[in-house]
Amino acid sequence: MDRIRIVGGKELNGTIPISGAKNAALPLMIAALLTEDTLVLDNVPRLADVAQLQRILGNHGVDITSVGKRVGDREYQGQTLRISASSIIDTTAPYELVSRMRASFWVLAPLVARMREARVSLPGGCAIGTRPVDLLMMALERLGAQLSIDGGYVVAKAPNGLRGAAIDFPKVTVGGTHVAIMAASLAKGTTVISNAACEPEVADLAACLNKMGARIDGAGTARITIEGVDALHGAQHPVLPDRIEAGTYAIAVATTGGDVQLTGARPELLQSPLGVLREAGAEIAVNADGIRIARNGAGIRPVTVSTAPFPGFPTDLQAQLMALMICAQGSSEITETIFENRFMHVQELARFGARISLEGETARIEGIARLRGAPVMATDLRASVSLVIAGLAAEGETMVNRVYHLDRGFERLEEKLKACGASISRISD
Ligand code: EPZ
Repeated sequence: MDRIRIVGGKELNGTIPISGAKNAALPLMIAALLTEDTLVLDNVPRLADVAQLQRILGNHGVDITSVGKRVGDREYQGQTLRISASSIIDTTAPYELVSRMRASFWVLAPLVARMREARVSLPGGCAIGTRPVDLLMMALERLGAQLSIDGGYVVAKAPNGLRGAAIDFPKVTVGGTHVAIMAASLAKGTTVISNAACEPEVADLAACLNKMGARIDGAGTARITIEGVDALHGAQHPVLPDRIEAGTYAIAVATTGGDVQLTGARPELLQSPLGVLREAGAEIAVNADGIRIARNGAGIRPVTVSTAPFPGFPTDLQAQLMALMICAQGSSEITETIFENRFMHVQELARFGARISLEGETARIEGIARLRGAPVMATDLRASVSLVIAGLAAEGETMVNRVYHLDRGFERLEEKLKACGASISRISD
């Protein structure tokens, strides 16, 4: 089991290239199931979750090839995947595959839309919450799918195909919005989604589907209209840059001090986190190549933040912000409103000497002047990177265990940080 060893206390200076977004690549890959033509995705990050989804799609009979390096490719350039679902030979997504990468549950939508049947394992919960899928199932039922639960699997049937409908989500759900858009693209008639998720990854999926011949309007806003079409065709589409990765490294620089250019980062996708970092005392400049973040000597000011759906402060940056706040001069508050159990990193951050108290969904953090390195345990993807950030700022050695969590969502993390002066290395046992 790999571990990451960090000797903290060094500033970060240099350039970090931002990879394609995991949370855009996954729905885009799943959308390939909607057509028998080939979907070509560029700038796909090399992540464990992407590899796991390739295995799941392969189980359905999908051919995926990765295009080799080309003359002129940039260093760290994302991979190009050619995904061909010309014949889907199996409409079952098995438990042993789905349970390891929850978003693969979303294959239910294109399978029932195109094949009129599907049998997909319920994904189960994870460290941050029960992660129910009732709203994803509601959306498909509204479009005419008959769903039942059998032995831990969702069995879906739509013998006459799906038909357009009004889908009104009682709460914002990214996965629910992806599922509704994909299924409605091949439904007969018009679908209107209300209270849709406005995350940029939803707009990226819709942009790709429209290149494939779908007729989607309003993606990126809370009201999305889809005119169903009989079939979709192939297309080529670049995966959106990862706003969570960019926000993570911005928070890391604000925590350690230094001056880093985040190449490829898109500031318009990070307005809320950048505003919070400015309030905390970081200097942020937007330029043609991305975002430049620096903190040279100024102290870290405490902030009060609540997570919220886009364009609010993303829950996927909550743990990282907490790592910054344990170094702040004063007390801060972070409230988690999206997931019911997303404070698993608190007890691990406390091992650095942090003083954090929990009251319901709010964490109150008393900043301390000096963190001390410690052995810590990663529990979920974003929590694990908050431990890396704390280790970069702490004095002495930190050992982060269970780094497979990190590999799910951060491409070449050690390389990118080492290139900016961090003393960080992976130890493979
Ligand atoms: C996506 O998860 C992301 N994952 C998550 O990122 C992200 O934290 C989340 O959206 C919120 O932005 C991917 O894109 C692969 P939701 P998703 O449906 O779609 C409740 C990461 O670290 N809910 O928007 O599963 C749910 O319990 C991951 O990259 C229902 O009640 O999240 C939660 O409280 C973590 N019923 C809230 O809605 C449902 O049917 C938002 O969940 C579905 C969701």
